[in-house]
Amino acid sequence: MGNHSSESSRQVLICQGRTCRKQGAAKVLAAFQHSPVTGITVIGSGCLGQCGNGPMVLITPDQLWYSSVHPKEVPVVVERHLQGGHPVVSMLYPKYHSPGKQS
Ligand code: FES
Repeated sequence: MGNHSSESSRQVLICQGRTCRKQGAAKVLAAFQHSPVTGITVIGSGCLGQCGNGPMVLITPDQLWYSSVHPKEVPVVVERHLQGGHPVVSMLYPKYHSPGKQS
């Protein structure tokens, strides 16, 4: 507490709009809340405008989107992306992140 290091404040937005909730977004949110990461805020957001591809997850300020996230996949995102700094390329939203063939 005390210092605010704005650079390290990242957020995970999990869409809780109606369509995403039908697709299981509440469980995805719960899964993120279950694995808290220091310096990262988990937020249930309103509709992110990508209905039908949910549950949608947006990592800011990276501006990385994950689509059709399953609660079981959350630990992978937490470990590799939020803790390890390596986005899980296979899960990224193809509309915004065209799958590159580099691996
Ligand atoms: S309800 Fe999630 S993107 Fe619209």
